[in-house]
Amino acid sequence: MNLHSFFRRKTIKQILYEETGSKEIGLKRRLTSFDLVTMGIGAIIGTGIFVLTGVASARYAGPGAVLSFILAGIASALAALVYAELASSVPVAGSAYVYSYASLGEIIAWIIGWDLILEYTVAAGAVSIGWSGYLVNLLEAAGINLPAVITNPPSLGGIVNLPAIIIVGFVAFILILGTRQSAIVNNIIVLIKLGVIILFIIVGLLHLQPELWVPFLPFGFQGVITGAAIVFFAYIGFDAVSTAAEEVKNPGRELPRGILGSLCVSSVLYVLVALILTGLVSYRFLDVPSPLSFAMLKIGFPWISGIISVGALTGLSSVILVSIFGQSRIFFSMARDGLLPFKFSRLHPRFQTPYVILILTALMVAFIGGFLPLGVVAELANIGTLTAFILVSIGVIILRYKQPELVRPFKTPLFPYLPLLSAIISFYLALHLPRITWIRFLSWLIIGMIIYFIYGFRTSKLAAKQKLKE
Ligand code: ALA
Repeated sequence: MNLHSFFRRKTIKQILYEETGSKEIGLKRRLTSFDLVTMGIGAIIGTGIFVLTGVASARYAGPGAVLSFILAGIASALAALVYAELASSVPVAGSAYVYSYASLGEIIAWIIGWDLILEYTVAAGAVSIGWSGYLVNLLEAAGINLPAVITNPPSLGGIVNLPAIIIVGFVAFILILGTRQSAIVNNIIVLIKLGVIILFIIVGLLHLQPELWVPFLPFGFQGVITGAAIVFFAYIGFDAVSTAAEEVKNPGRELPRGILGSLCVSSVLYVLVALILTGLVSYRFLDVPSPLSFAMLKIGFPWISGIISVGALTGLSSVILVSIFGQSRIFFSMARDGLLPFKFSRLHPRFQTPYVILILTALMVAFIGGFLPLGVVAELANIGTLTAFILVSIGVIILRYKQPELVRPFKTPLFPYLPLLSAIISFYLALHLPRITWIRFLSWLIIGMIIYFIYGFRTSKLAAKQKLKE
């Protein structure tokens, strides 16, 4: 075991041709540009806007929550430009994990792959908890009360959060049936989700009370920054588009469009919603599980409030869908590389989807959704994603110098300043997450390192190939 072997890197040629070219382990190219933008929106718009906007304005930023959204949006836009370059030049499943295998070496790739579990699996778990909360509220409004023991995790006095587990099982079932089918379901859900948000914006604009925006920054600018570290959760997901790279018809052109397009649409809607929400109801009253429906109720539109709740419920399920999809593709890549058992990457004989991994991922998400509380889970997802953004931003710089000949259909502008700024802003936001989140995060990374040394270091296919050459 020498130091050099930790940093063994794959070449882009190896990544692009040797592996994805094979019939047995390559995925089918079935997704179009439109599918990708809707996939991005499907993954992005969810708990962040439907739940956390209220928390951020009531607890941290007041009406200035709109600035928190803008700040978190800038951090995400910078990272998105970096992802667009990498995804278009290395279009394989696995996203940040694969880019770092080529730029930073195996050990960092493993760390990113491990870290991405926080972004995808843990975030999907968080959203399933949010989904369960909306369902419980909606059923209550209809006069049906589910027993608290089956709608809460043990730490909140329940036994299990059953609705969270059920929605995860349902979504996993659709994903196993096929990528094309999942994309169709996702497209429909996204239309409903966009519809209810636009409805909220239009009705809200007609009933604004601008005096509620004063004071604009009741908790000062510090509150805006803490708010940004929290609402950053709302932007997680645009990079899920890059995990579909192997299933896209024309990746060089369509991946940047999918990533940047979905982020752009979501950001504009977020800023409008955040601004309007605090102009309808005083920020002081917004710390509720369903702030958008609550605001409509407050201004006297109970039926619109109901429509928004149903839309949110539908919309949250697509976030779970795309997150599980993304996670399964990253595990798929890692299994193909020998860092996880190769059996995981097996495709279903009839549906052609990586069903073993999908089932394993769904079990993990269901465990998180069923047994853990929302706050802990959402903050871990944020720190995991911000770390991935930092490493990917550094990775794009290294890759430009190490492999200048690589064909790059999309190039990050203002190189190298923009990727550097991206890494700095992401780190700055991560610093504003609670200390306990950092401790949990570092513990997670240590567990990952132990697993790598026990398993992946020895079973890595790249290691085997390099040994053969020696
Ligand atoms: N961005 C996703 C959401 O807000 C994770 O639910």
